[in-house]
Amino acid sequence: MLDFITKKILVPQEEIETIVSRLAEEINRDYEGKKLVIVCVLKGSIMFTADLSKKINVVNEMEFVRVSTYGNSTESSGEMKVLLDFDREDFTECDFLIVEDIIDSGNTLSRLVSNFKNRGAKSVKTCTLLDKPSRRKVEFEPDYVGKVIPDEFVFGYGLDLFEEYRGLPYVAVVSEEYLNSLK
Ligand code: IMP
Ligand code: MG
Repeated sequence: MLDFITKKILVPQEEIETIVSRLAEEINRDYEGKKLVIVCVLKGSIMFTADLSKKINVVNEMEFVRVSTYGNSTESSGEMKVLLDFDREDFTECDFLIVEDIIDSGNTLSRLVSNFKNRGAKSVKTCTLLDKPSRRKVEFEPDYVGKVIPDEFVFGYGLDLFEEYRGLPYVAVVSEEYLNSLK
């Protein structure tokens, strides 16, 4: 099955490790002497947040949110539902870094950032492993980008294909054959 659904491996494990190290270095430099609140956007960013946080050496806490903009399809619906949220008394004193697996239309992160700003966050930055800028429906520039990728549906390393395959250690592109078989 995995062979049938895989067109090619787009980001191999070694490249992910190199990307994660580079991003952690940038973050460590930018937040030196500060305290960071890392926000993992579940479920997709679980692997990336876990690996990135191991290399972040500034004092940090972790929070988790879960939002849904996709429903059960590969096209963004544009609306964001907050499925899991957190609150904290010191919200307005926090420097937040929202960590995402991928930016596609830009809806999820632009809405999340507005949400955090409206709640009075001291600062909000965003870090994404993957970015598909050609798919933007709303203007959005992340602060830290792992890799810019073309307009193809990818899965693995946290990213799901109909909720499956999140545990793969690499990011792969879905095959045309598989996508056609769904029609
Ligand atoms: P956006 O709101 O359209 O920017 O989409 C962001 C969310 O859509 C990501 O957090 C992913 O969960 C999901 N997503 C977008 N593109 C892909 C993909 O190629 N594979 C798997 N999930 C994706
Ligand atoms: Mg996601």
